[in-house]
Amino acid sequence: MRAITIDRYGGPEVAQLRSDVPVPAPAPGEVLVQVVCAGVNFMDVHTRQGKYRDSRTYPPRAPCTLGMEGAGVVLALGEGVTHLAVGDRVAWCIAWGSYAQYACVPAWQAARIPEAIGFDLAAAAMFQGCTAHYLVHDVARLAPGHSCLVHAGSGSIGQLLIQTAKRLGATVFATASTPHKRAVAAQRGADRTLAYEGFADAVRAATGGRGVDVVFDSLGKATLRESLRAARTRGLIVNYGNVSGSVSDLDPIELGEAGSLLLTRPRLADHMTDAATIQRRADAVFWAIAAGHLSVDLAEPCTLDDVQRVHARIEARAQVGKSVVWIDARDALARA
Ligand SMILES: NC(=O)c1ccc[n+]([C@@H]2O[C@H](COP(=O)([O-])OP(=O)(O)OC[C@H]3O[C@@H](n4cnc5c(N)ncnc54)[C@H](OP(=O)(O)O)[C@@H]3O)[C@@H](O)[C@H]2O)c1
Repeated sequence: MRAITIDRYGGPEVAQLRSDVPVPAPAPGEVLVQVVCAGVNFMDVHTRQGKYRDSRTYPPRAPCTLGMEGAGVVLALGEGVTHLAVGDRVAWCIAWGSYAQYACVPAWQAARIPEAIGFDLAAAAMFQGCTAHYLVHDVARLAPGHSCLVHAGSGSIGQLLIQTAKRLGATVFATASTPHKRAVAAQRGADRTLAYEGFADAVRAATGGRGVDVVFDSLGKATLRESLRAARTRGLIVNYGNVSGSVSDLDPIELGEAGSLLLTRPRLADHMTDAATIQRRADAVFWAIAAGHLSVDLAEPCTLDDVQRVHARIEARAQVGKSVVWIDARDALARA
């Protein structure tokens, strides 16, 4: 089968398209899926770069097939799988091998997709939609009257965080690096958009000196210290990503000095630990999309031949919107 694999860590060039990869056979508890669309994520970039080589949460190591999110049709059931059937339309994330024509997915990680949702939207929304869902509902527990700051408000998760927080009645500040990206964040509903330069002072000024209840920080090194200053006394800092590098020298006393702040570094994997939770979160995301409450910013359709280019664009900070790979190029052409 055709698949994008890495045999070593490195830049986009190590992601190689091969046409001789064996079709995997489902182990007990897995389903074999014909992949229709695969989501392209920052996590794939991190995996390719080798950032997870020592991670206990994320097991894939080179050599491997890239891609940890996708949508497709169940072709065969491994031993013991009873809650899915051949022909089911499913989506998954944090299960590797999706940049390929066929993938074996642990059945408990595969969520059924409603008819109203196409494979491209399902592959685009599963990972980031479920992430925004748990961050807003379970970690930050936003409610009417709350305020939050969303960094990288035009990023895939940023856009979903803004929409979800607004729908729950929160006031939303959002940062982004360019006027175009700030316009995207405003379009998604941010009440106020900001450049990164001086964002903490701007947030404090706009909140009468108080600061926001919650900061969603996916940048890490470039913003985290200033994020502490943007939060209110006893506010919550949610450091859910480290696209600019991680902070390795934070003394807990800084959290005290900044106003008894709470700092957390949550992971989706710990909020998707069983089949029922995964289907519940996926349903919430898919139905919000179907009802028009949540928009997913789909980038132009691409194919397995385009993966290196999309990875390079993400790393160059030039990507706005989510890329999904149509595994069969004919499907991509039909969508273009
Ligand atoms: N903890 C979790 O549960 C969880 C789950 C899913 C993903 N994540 C992580 O969340 C982060 C964001 O994911 P995403 O899918 O929203 O990514 P994305 O769509 O690629 O957006 C990332 C944004 O980060 C900003 N950025 C700032 N510095 C950057 C840099 N040096 N390189 C590239 N982008 C930079 C860019 O916006 P500006 O140019 O406006 O700054 C960009 O739009 C990633 O680190 C991902 O691994 C965490």
